[in-house]
Amino acid sequence: MAGLKVLVIGSGAREHALAWKIAQSDHVNEIFAAPGNAGTSLLAQNLSISVSDIPAIVNRARELKIDLVVVGPEAPLAAGLVDQLQTTGIPVFGPLRAAARLESSKVFSRELMLKYDIPRAAGESFSDYSAARSYLEGQSVPIVVKADGLAAGKGVIIALNKEDALAALDSIMKARTFGSAGDRVVIEECLFGREVSLLAFTDGKTAIPMVPACDYKRVYDDDRGLNTGGMGSYSPPGFFGQAMIDRVLQTIIQPVIAAMSAEGTPYQGVLYTGLILTDAGPRVLEFNARFGDPETQAILPRLKTDLVEIMLAVVKRDLHTVKIDWKDDPCVGVVMASGGYPGDYKNGYPITISDKLERDVTVFYAGAKQNDNGQIVTDGGRVLTVTATGKTMREARDTVYRNLPYIKFEGCHYRKDIAAREVD
Ligand code: AMP
Ligand code: GLY
Repeated sequence: MAGLKVLVIGSGAREHALAWKIAQSDHVNEIFAAPGNAGTSLLAQNLSISVSDIPAIVNRARELKIDLVVVGPEAPLAAGLVDQLQTTGIPVFGPLRAAARLESSKVFSRELMLKYDIPRAAGESFSDYSAARSYLEGQSVPIVVKADGLAAGKGVIIALNKEDALAALDSIMKARTFGSAGDRVVIEECLFGREVSLLAFTDGKTAIPMVPACDYKRVYDDDRGLNTGGMGSYSPPGFFGQAMIDRVLQTIIQPVIAAMSAEGTPYQGVLYTGLILTDAGPRVLEFNARFGDPETQAILPRLKTDLVEIMLAVVKRDLHTVKIDWKDDPCVGVVMASGGYPGDYKNGYPITISDKLERDVTVFYAGAKQNDNGQIVTDGGRVLTVTATGKTMREARDTVYRNLPYIKFEGCHYRKDIAAREVD
């Protein structure tokens, strides 16, 4: 196994981190990214193909004789990219469309959890507006209203009072703010506790957890401001040790993998479990059918094992033969965002990185591209993730924050408190 060609689908910092880790594999000769970004272009050849253009991706993968396709974002998974590649005989890392429903349908994942008794929030799913409304009338607040389908991270509303809950329901089912993603809703109890993301590699039989990570969703420090795609992450959370990882593996991840097989839709790829640690134990908030962003940027720098070996074992369904090793060193990643994000912002500002940037710091680009003059400029809300590992969380955190001033673009902002609770 040598001289492999790998194609990464997506254009975020997650995909830059995937390409970066894939580039470290002894087995890989060439990397492509579709469409990629300014970061992947340093390691890979960017192909200007949209992630939603499935026929174009399949054609290029065939022409280029790609040995492994790695799918980053959820939309192409939900649209059946993996199914199409498999039909063409191209090895691909990621779940089939039917299995990706764990993420693309909250009603599906809720019903699966109900059937197989997986620890989750109490609640109900509805396809009928009136039934949903009368159920909601009878519930106490706070309460959580979720659009069934993919809604770019905006389909979950935590309502503190009845009016907001009913407004959320109206917005999803009546105004159809999220289109057909709002054909059905999930209404569930609001859980309290610390949140953690536990991702696992799985070939449909064996599941091997990665190191856990935490994500920061709100735009400002102390979890103020609007929700974003994620403003930073770190790994590992001190409050989520090996005993908790084992418990989640046994009570959630393995039962879900077994359930998906039992239902005739075996799950392959990365299963991302979003959890909340309540007083009564861990509860599932959501499943994602892919690597998390920005969690991946804090997880992959800790991976010792060759990522491509793991992915090929998943594809061949012999993950049980692989041992996955991790560095003890914690990792912290801070997202630098465009001025105005998550609201309106402008693109095209030059990004400069001083040569004072320390060697141990890795920059994963997201909304960044090379302009016609070869200059790297901003091209999205979340522009890049700056990561560092260290002997301790404090060291990793200090390194990131010491280096952030060396990276500049007009209007840039970032959270100052990523991983702060781990070092206070
Ligand atoms: P989801 O897309 O389902 O993960 O929801 C996005 C975010 O909403 C999660 O990361 C949690 O912060 C929050 N959330 C979702 N469901 C609940 C719940 N039942 N109780 C409290 N918070 C929730
Ligand atoms: N970090 C959350 C996600 O990737 O969906």
